[in-house]
Amino acid sequence: MTGSRHAIAFTLNDEAVNAEVAANLLLIDLLRTQFGLHGVKRSCEMEVCGACTVLVDELPASSCTMLAVDVDGRAVLTIEGLGGPDRLDPIQEAFVRHGAVQCGFCTPGFILTTRALLAACRTRACKDW
Ligand code: FES
Repeated sequence: MTGSRHAIAFTLNDEAVNAEVAANLLLIDLLRTQFGLHGVKRSCEMEVCGACTVLVDELPASSCTMLAVDVDGRAVLTIEGLGGPDRLDPIQEAFVRHGAVQCGFCTPGFILTTRALLAACRTRACKDW
């Protein structure tokens, strides 16, 4: 820690990364400004809409209210880490095939939440959702 800044290390889209962040920096701002991951969207800023959803240790998290320091030592997955135009994840393919993208703004959050739900159902934990 340096002053009010904190050194954090975490896994971002399967790569080990480091950052020095202010104690009050939101995860969404770290991802968008320092890592250029613009699939993470800001909208309601109150954990309601899901546009900012990322997976933290495979569970959905609202990056609009989560502090960046809270991902220290954890694994963060954004839509960019799931797949892209050259290699779509099967969930992304399903969304495209069924026209589920609508305007696309919230789609990354829908897709990541779907991934977490399917993972939970594979372990029979989906009854807790
Ligand atoms: S921006 Fe709406 S839940 Fe985070």
